[in-house]
Order: sequence, then structure tokens, then C-alpha cells
Amino acid sequence: MVPRTPLLEVRDLRTSFFTPDGEVRAVRGISFALGAGETLGIVGESGSGKTVTALSVLGLLAATGKITGGELLFHGEDLARAPQKTLRKIRGKKISMIFQDSVSSLNPLMTIGKQVGEMFTAHPEALDSKAGGPAPFLWHGRRRLFRRALSGKEIDKQVTALLSGVQIPDSGKRRHFYPHELSGGMRQRAMIAIALACRPEILIADEPTTALDLTIQSQIIRLLKNAGEEAGMSIIFITHDLGLVAELCSRAIVMYAGMIMEEASVDDLFDAPSHPYTLGLFNSTPGMETDTARKPGPIPGSHPDMLRPPPGCPFSPRCASAGPRCFDAPPPRRAIGGPESGHFARCWLL
Ligand SMILES: Nc1ncnc2c1ncn2[C@@H]1O[C@H](COP(=O)(O)OP(=O)(O)OP(=O)(O)O)[C@@H](O)[C@H]1O
Ligand SMILES: [Mg+2]
Repeated sequence: MVPRTPLLEVRDLRTSFFTPDGEVRAVRGISFALGAGETLGIVGESGSGKTVTALSVLGLLAATGKITGGELLFHGEDLARAPQKTLRKIRGKKISMIFQDSVSSLNPLMTIGKQVGEMFTAHPEALDSKAGGPAPFLWHGRRRLFRRALSGKEIDKQVTALLSGVQIPDSGKRRHFYPHELSGGMRQRAMIAIALACRPEILIADEPTTALDLTIQSQIIRLLKNAGEEAGMSIIFITHDLGLVAELCSRAIVMYAGMIMEEASVDDLFDAPSHPYTLGLFNSTPGMETDTARKPGPIPGSHPDMLRPPPGCPFSPRCASAGPRCFDAPPPRRAIGGPESGHFARCWLL
């Protein structure tokens, strides 16, 4: 089902990069909604526009990038038009992101405890009242002056609690470790701790487990799932991996060439994938092949260059079932099993 009261509503978002070679149309009119407490998967091959979608929400596009159309409604405010000052207040605090390849963005010269603690110094109001309380205000008679600077002890206590919350064992000791003294899995946990420090309403996790081995991967997925459930947080989980979507998400959108090709509850997507591209993704995931007519393996061909996307259905050049109409015009979004099902796909063949 599509959430009735969305926390974030993306309407017809269009994002381009203006390069010396021309306009790279990375996101081309996508719409979706994220409900409170929901975990939404965004799945698709490399270059399909997953990261650009997330960076558009946070107002963190490269200098050449621009939102050219659409709305990003968060609590009724359009983030696509919000000034940087507003976005700075929202980023990290209300919507936070674990960036793709973010482990390499940990500062190698600073202990992980200090890096987590910086979040509390930047947002003192985020301190957990159960673990020492927010920084108290200083009062002069009835006038509130400013928040008292946090003591090192207050911050240490919260950092230790947060690191043990992301299951870093012996966190009181490990908070003094530098990133290189931790394993890849522990560094990823530290990144998650930084993202969770301010108890955001939305966490965007962009391929947070790609570099990790399978056991650690599923530990991190379980950690995100628990964190989401405990805090009632909404999660946007970006991945190539349909298996991880099944483990973590309740709904998913399948992106290709800057468009949403299919959207469904995870149950519907796995029971009745409808777009030939989605079928291709399943067929290229070992153990998930659903299309018995075709040999398992990667989808033949490659993702289009977004400087010159195909004029019809962007998947048509790689689609074994494409007919003449597929090459002419992009297919409309159609409901599958009635609009109430929340299952949609863009395909002329449906
Ligand atoms: N700074 C940029 N300048 C020009 N083009 C860009 C820029 N950033 C992204 N793009 C283009 O936008 C498109 C979407 O990129 P994006 O990073 O969102 O893909 P993705 O789905 O996240 O892929 P991956 O799975 O590899 O992370 C691609 O064609 C990419 O080349
Ligand atoms: Mg990406």
C-alpha cells in the first residue's frame, strides 16, 4: 500500500547535471512517498539515479547539478525550493544519510568517539534525556540566555551509549580507536552511529553494506532494522541487491535510467514482478531467478548514457520482449491489480 500520510513526498522530481558535453538527465520525473516508520528500498543498476535522488532530497548535489522540476515535500515544506539555511537545519538532524562508500569519509586523524561526539556538539538538543538530558539552558531571571556548553563527560556518556547501541563491543574503550584500528564492519557501525546520533526522522542508507562480507552484511541489516523499529524511524535503503530489499524493506521502487519502472510492496514485487527490467534483475540474482524461459545471468547490454537516453522506454534496447511502440515513446505509469494495490509499472506490454 502507498502510505496515506507520507512523511516525505517526492513529486515528479527531475535532476540534471550541466556538463561541457551537455545535460545529463539523471532523474527524469520520479514520484514516490515515504510513510512514517516505513522502510522503502530503491533498487536498480549502476547509473540508474539512486544516489542522485537521495542527494537531491538533501540539497547536496554537485555544483553542476540542479533540480529542474518537481517537489520534495517534507512536513509540507518543499525542500526543492528551500534555502540552504533550512536544508542545513534538516540535514543530519531530521534527515540523515549514510553515504555510498562513506566508510572512507571517516576522518583518519580523529577517534571515532570524537567524530560521533561532534554530532552532539553541533546539535546539543539531540542529547538523549535518559542518558544525561539535553544541555540545560542558562537562565537570567525569566530570560533564557543560551544553552550551557556540554561537558566532556556528558558527551562521552552518550557517545559510549550510542556506540554500544550499534553493537560495537567494549564501546567505552573502542571510542578511543582511530578508524584504521577498526574492521570494515566496525567502521560501518561507527558511520551508522554518526547518522543516528540526532535520532533523525528519515535515514537514507546508500549501499551501506557493499564492501562487507556476507555475515557482517546481515548483521548491519539487522542493526538498521532494529534501529528503525525502535526509533519509529523511516528508512530509504538504496541497493543493487534484491536479497537485501527482501530482508529489510516493506516496499520498493525499481529505478532505471532516471525513471521508476516498477513500484510495489516487497511481497507483490517478489510474487509478481511485472516489468521486464525487474524480471531481468531477478534473473541476474543467484537464487532468485523467476523467469524460467530465460537463462539466469546478467541482463544483456548496458545502462544507457544519460546524456542521450533512448526516446522510448529506456529499457527497450535491452528488452527481449520490446515491440515497435516501445522504441517510440516512454510508457505511462499503470496500476497493476487496481490502484489500491500500490503496485505500478511503466511498460507498454502490460
Ligand atoms: N556530478 C555529476 N556530474 C555528471 N553526471 C553525474 C554526476 N553525478 C551523477 N551523474 C550521472 O547521473 C546518473 C545517475 O547517477 P547515480 O550516481 O545516481 O547512479 P546510482 O544509481 O547511484 O549508481 P550506483 O549504483 O553506481 O551508485 C549517472 O548517469 C551518472 O553518470
Ligand atoms: Mg549510487
